[in-house]
Amino acid sequence: MTSPNYLIREYPLQQGALEIAYIEEFFNEFPTRKTAAEIIQRLEGREYQILMAEAPVPDESGAVVPVSYKVSHELRPEETDPKLADLVARLSDTIDFSSQKVLYNWLGATRLDWRGQGHFRALTEEQEAWAVAQGYDLIVVKTKNRYYDMRGTLDSLRFNVIKLEPAADPLESKVYLGKRLGPFVLDAHRSRRQVTRG
Ligand SMILES: CC(C)(COP(=O)(O)OP(=O)(O)OC[C@H]1O[C@@H](n2cnc3c(N)ncnc32)[C@H](O)[C@@H]1OP(=O)(O)O)[C@@H](O)C(=O)NCCC(=O)NCCS
Repeated sequence: MTSPNYLIREYPLQQGALEIAYIEEFFNEFPTRKTAAEIIQRLEGREYQILMAEAPVPDESGAVVPVSYKVSHELRPEETDPKLADLVARLSDTIDFSSQKVLYNWLGATRLDWRGQGHFRALTEEQEAWAVAQGYDLIVVKTKNRYYDMRGTLDSLRFNVIKLEPAADPLESKVYLGKRLGPFVLDAHRSRRQVTRG
């Protein structure tokens, strides 16, 4: 059996923000969904990547729909956005931001009916190839204990826990994970991808 060819689209800022805001509407499990304005505000003026995986709808019409997405951006030592400044401060005991180029996995998920089909791995591999080419040293991501699907996935994608912030309710404890980047990361990639840009 031949492996699937994942369809990936990389978006510029304005269009990408609208697409992400649209797809997040499908995720009732997220407490707060991002608006296009919030996404633009966060990404404008910094290096970012907006990726979306598309897949055919099951009705054989040939139509494709967005099924999975991943938004990442550079995380710099001197952040002025309060949320990002807080994130950098929390991680500064484990990451030396001054000597490394750090990519932050901000948003990402796969629609329920398309989970377990490799879309998120394909997006992650495409992101890693880009990040290595852009000279990033490290990818970091934040989740919580209660997000078991995401934790299992990050495990499979070879992210390591770099910090735990315990909460009164252990399900709410924050888990920070990281993955060191370099050409060696690309050797472990296995998805076949067809990427459209713009
Ligand atoms: C986590 C999530 C993005 C995975 O997307 P997906 O498209 O189903 O992932 P993939 O099919 O590409 O799987 C990637 C790898 O993770 C593994 N994986 C996927 N779901 C998993 C799960 N629930 N438990 C353990 N491992 C899992 C797969 O086996 C695969 O590993 P492999 O390639 O080595 O076989 C998806 O389940 C999701 O959107 N969940 C909700 C997101 C969420 O909870 N966000 C909260 C904020 S962090």
